[in-house]
Amino acid sequence: MIYLDNAATSFPKPPAVAESIVDFLEHSAGNPGRSGHALAIAAQAVVAATRSQLAALFGVPDPARIVFALNATDALNTALWGLLRPGDRVVTTSIEHNAVARPLHAMAERGIEVTRVACAADGTLNLDDLDRALRSGPVRLVAMCHASNVCGTILPVREAAQRAHEHGALFLLDAAQTAGVLLIDVIEMGIDLLAFPGHKALLGPTGTGGLYVGPSVRLTPMRQGGTGTRSAEEQQPDELPEALEAGTPNTVGIAGLGAALGYLQQRGQPAIRAHEVALTTRLIDGLMDIPGLRIHGTGDPARQVATVSVSLEGWEPVDVAAALDSSFGIAVRSGLHCAPLAHRTLGTFPRGTVRLSPGCFTTDDDVDQALAALRKLARTAA
Ligand SMILES: Cc1ncc(COP(=O)(O)O)c(C=O)c1O
Repeated sequence: MIYLDNAATSFPKPPAVAESIVDFLEHSAGNPGRSGHALAIAAQAVVAATRSQLAALFGVPDPARIVFALNATDALNTALWGLLRPGDRVVTTSIEHNAVARPLHAMAERGIEVTRVACAADGTLNLDDLDRALRSGPVRLVAMCHASNVCGTILPVREAAQRAHEHGALFLLDAAQTAGVLLIDVIEMGIDLLAFPGHKALLGPTGTGGLYVGPSVRLTPMRQGGTGTRSAEEQQPDELPEALEAGTPNTVGIAGLGAALGYLQQRGQPAIRAHEVALTTRLIDGLMDIPGLRIHGTGDPARQVATVSVSLEGWEPVDVAAALDSSFGIAVRSGLHCAPLAHRTLGTFPRGTVRLSPGCFTTDDDVDQALAALRKLARTAA
């Protein structure tokens, strides 16, 4: 099978991920921070080590500011519901995933004003449009993705964060498509809140993710419960990470994520990015030669992550994906990719696109086989 659906979740995982999960279950699977016995202490050590690895990866000086979550959606909801109150205004973009768009839609019905800056049809964001939106009234938060999960276009994060701060707003980055591939330094880039999944380019198991909470942010917890600290008190502790980590964490997944981060560090993020740029270049160059095939996005591998969306004349996206799977053993995703707003922006709503997303284990041969399969489909009517 050729797996080109890494934008949904990465596959395969480095072998060390499964090994560390088995090792954790056999030797360390106590409840972290809850008891004083050896197994609980071992589990706590694994959680603390993974937290420190994440902090180091994102340039976070204090690991306690990394809060574990179930996925990027969980982290984004923790940030948005924890921060925004009726009367606040949030500025966002027209290419957001439903993980941002749906909470904001629900919040708009509760008195939070949402201003959506329209991106161009290739997914790019014009900073003058952002400026205009920021100038149109007080803003509490700017919330945007680092890269589109539909066409891969990378947004200008540093510049957007700087503008947010100039207008007294906080900056929330949805790094679902970039964490593990593009370098992210929260201090240098001016990120106040960083939501990331553990199961995409960070190469960890599903059920993992996290949120960085900067020193200038105070979030009201969505959940209250046991933390293993201040147990005599009825109210949720204020301190991070406990304030936002009620209940037993996904220790098994966190153990796997720790091993994945070890792999990433060893291979090096710049090397992974270079590999993915080369794959994207090969893919886009090949796609451009296929008659009747249209690429959505900038078409420039340097300005996008390794996520490429296409339409094929005479074919429904869902049929292309089914044919690639059944006749060629190639796994891609079709449809709206949980981002209907992005498709409206790209002009591909409501049919959506066929999305090919290579990852760090994809080879040139995988890309060539996908191109050959698409060439064959282009010659055939659906
Ligand atoms: C841009 C973006 N944001 C958020 C999410 C949600 O991530 P998760 O599935 O980890 O909740 C995704 C998932 O594809 C995404 O692409």
